[in-house]
Amino acid sequence: MRILFISSEVAPFSKTGGLGDVAGALPRALALRGHQVRVVTPLYRSVPRATLQLFGSPVTLHFPFGDVEVRSYRAVGDVETVFVDAPAAFDRDAFYGFGDDARRFAVLSLAALAFAQRDGFAADVVHGNDWQSAPALLALRTGYAHTALGRARRVFTIHNLAFQGMFPKRELEALGIPWSLFTVDGVEFYDQLSYMKTALVCADVLTTVSPSYAKEIQTPGFGVGLDGLLRHRSADLHGILNGVDAREWNPATDVFLPRTFTATEPSGRARCRSELIASCRIDPPVDGMPLFGIIGRMTGQKGADLLQAALPRLLEQGASAIVLGAGDPALEHAWRQLDARYPRRLAVRVGFDESLAHRIEAGSDFFLMPSRFEPCGLNQMYSLLYGAVPVVHAVGGLKDTVVDLSQPEGNGVIFDVPTPEAMFGALVRCVELFRDPARYLAVQRRGMNSDFGWGRAAAAYEQLYRGPPSP
Ligand code: ADP
Ligand code: GLC
Repeated sequence: MRILFISSEVAPFSKTGGLGDVAGALPRALALRGHQVRVVTPLYRSVPRATLQLFGSPVTLHFPFGDVEVRSYRAVGDVETVFVDAPAAFDRDAFYGFGDDARRFAVLSLAALAFAQRDGFAADVVHGNDWQSAPALLALRTGYAHTALGRARRVFTIHNLAFQGMFPKRELEALGIPWSLFTVDGVEFYDQLSYMKTALVCADVLTTVSPSYAKEIQTPGFGVGLDGLLRHRSADLHGILNGVDAREWNPATDVFLPRTFTATEPSGRARCRSELIASCRIDPPVDGMPLFGIIGRMTGQKGADLLQAALPRLLEQGASAIVLGAGDPALEHAWRQLDARYPRRLAVRVGFDESLAHRIEAGSDFFLMPSRFEPCGLNQMYSLLYGAVPVVHAVGGLKDTVVDLSQPEGNGVIFDVPTPEAMFGALVRCVELFRDPARYLAVQRRGMNSDFGWGRAAAAYEQLYRGPPSP
């Protein structure tokens, strides 16, 4: 099949979170199954230009807000990655969060279709990811309806329902979306234009990134106002767990680590741990206390408030912890304040640091991920593979990948309610496990032997791309 895959982030070129990882890995897994995949993504300012080639003639997109000339660059590997060069939209110091995001990602979406048409890329499937791809799915049903591309199967993946792409309704006119679509069954959501809803309405098939999250988002507690629509589309909604890209995340070959290691030969891990502690300039934990690692966007989603409430008691008893993340200024500030209170026990690194992220997974005894909701979560899977026993709230993809150590196949610690007390209880269980080295190693070993290859997910997407078997 020919698959046109649209994503606002693609690792290693651009990444703020797991979407980048997925868009860097799933298309390749599909290509390995024999499909022809073209990934389309913005040429942001930060994308390294050195290996990219300009190709094709420029295309002019006509929007009521103005004409936009776009050029295409590409990187060719196992899959073709096409970069949309529209400097007014993407040559900026961040990916998201601008007043004209509705227009910027309409440019991404419509350029993806225009380039496919220009290049004779006759897609069987157009696979959009998150709200940034919604205008493409809408255009396939409207302006492109009677073209060859209009016959493509429209697949949409929700990576995070909490980010919806909501815009003032006046943007409809600027974008050329007819007012007749501004209805409850259309693109309207609380009197605004919702890109997320647009995609949910326009796609033939909906997916999200874990089976549990697929169920959760059909309930008011997790549906962010769209649970009714998702229940209505329940038959078309599938949960497919993400995989791990073994080229990037494999402790046996990881270029960021001072020593590599494997489940059967884990001795290099001790060196990763001591170098991590030294490089973060903190004291090692006192005897019998563990080193905790934490990585993630600092947003309400990730449960930083639970950590900030529960961790100090452990630090006072001699545990150590390393935190890496960036995001909400209030959460960054709270972490920095905690850092100032425990300078020898806690290291807080605010920023995006790929190398440190790998070294934290390889050197921590436990990895803490108490997310209030988590569509899939990749970090807990990296932790399992790297031997940093994960501690998670029982939600979304976390509960689909981590099994509590009370079970025979246990590979981590799970707690049921997102409260500081439950978080603290989970940390106490970590200490107990850590003081029983044979048991700790058995739990760790089970995680390291997990199989999170992308092949399984790619096969599941392939089935959905083909559509229901003919009766
Ligand atoms: P989400 O997509 O919600 O942010 P995931 O766990 O799916 O959560 O993916 C997060 C990805 O982003 C992981 O690859 C993680 O290592 C990376 N990441 C997040 N924050 C940072 C950071 N501050 N520095 C380096 N990598 C980060
Ligand atoms: C989102 C989710 C995360 C998921 C990632 C990739 O960012 O928050 O849980 O792993 O997308 O699908």
